[in-house]
Amino acid sequence: MKLRKLILSITIAILPFAVAAQQPIVIKFSHVVAVDTPKGKAADFFAKKAADMTKGRVKVEVYPNSSLYKDKEEMEALQLGAVQMLAPSLAKFGPLGVKEFEVFDLPFIFDSYDSLRKVTLGPLGKQLLGKLEAKGVKGLAYWDNGFKSFSANTPIKMPADLKGKKMRIQSSKVLEEQMRALGSLPQVIGFGEVYQALQTGVVDGTENPISNLYTQKMHEVQKYLTLTEHGYLGYAVIVNKKFWEGLPPDIRKQLEDAMEQSTRYANQIAKVENDLALEGVKKSGKTQVYVPTREERLAFKKALVPVHQKMESRIGKDTLKEIYKETGFDPNKL
Ligand code: LMR
Repeated sequence: MKLRKLILSITIAILPFAVAAQQPIVIKFSHVVAVDTPKGKAADFFAKKAADMTKGRVKVEVYPNSSLYKDKEEMEALQLGAVQMLAPSLAKFGPLGVKEFEVFDLPFIFDSYDSLRKVTLGPLGKQLLGKLEAKGVKGLAYWDNGFKSFSANTPIKMPADLKGKKMRIQSSKVLEEQMRALGSLPQVIGFGEVYQALQTGVVDGTENPISNLYTQKMHEVQKYLTLTEHGYLGYAVIVNKKFWEGLPPDIRKQLEDAMEQSTRYANQIAKVENDLALEGVKKSGKTQVYVPTREERLAFKKALVPVHQKMESRIGKDTLKEIYKETGFDPNKL
């Protein structure tokens, strides 16, 4: 009788732990873009890989399209632990206090995905992710989107065509300076509100990789798109550091492996997704797509490269020097 009682009381005592052990660890992954974009697809891919590789011990819940948090709120939510994983664009780390990430926003700094890769896989890429730790954030990987082009409701061939235009930007001082260099009026607007801002005329134009333009239907409210490809937009996948470091080591390792595979996937599909989106924009017939001539693109380059020097004090002399070294970019040879 005594033994039975003892077994019963032990069972009652350990039951909650047994139940807890069966509950999967939940990772909330919030992002602001549509599901059928490079980031949206890669986030879903990671969720699937994480479930497979941890045999269901981890459940990644993906919240796309600003459905959980918007641009402004998501970084804070991550630091507070309300969400565990994000992939903000590299242009959105200034408000977190890591403004060196804006080095990726410098106009014309990368001439291909290859030159970009030299930075994300090189010492600077690593060093930048390391800077996040002091903010309670851990950087896991860089994911591509692509190269940004300008759109507006009036034709864009030369830099002067954007003079006086109100242009939506992400929260980056480098992008602000870039628009000022064109004589435009930059306006920071959260990604989820861009369509409406364009539709109602709060702003006249914007810049984005085509995958973002198309999946947010911005092409329906922008008459002209010029393939300037003047700057890069990509992401850093980040997690709450305390959460990540508190994971059981075997699970963390499996998630790191899942992330490695997802990064490979993200960077494989990005260009294809942008090419398909461009086809979609062209087919829609709502936006006139213009390919600038060599001379026209060079005029944009000449107008925008001085932004590098102007922003040197913000992103740091050494950071600028390092990115020139890794990409081979020479501001004196345009
Ligand atoms: C934007 O705000 O334009 C982009 O950062 C959105 C995104 O996450 O691709």
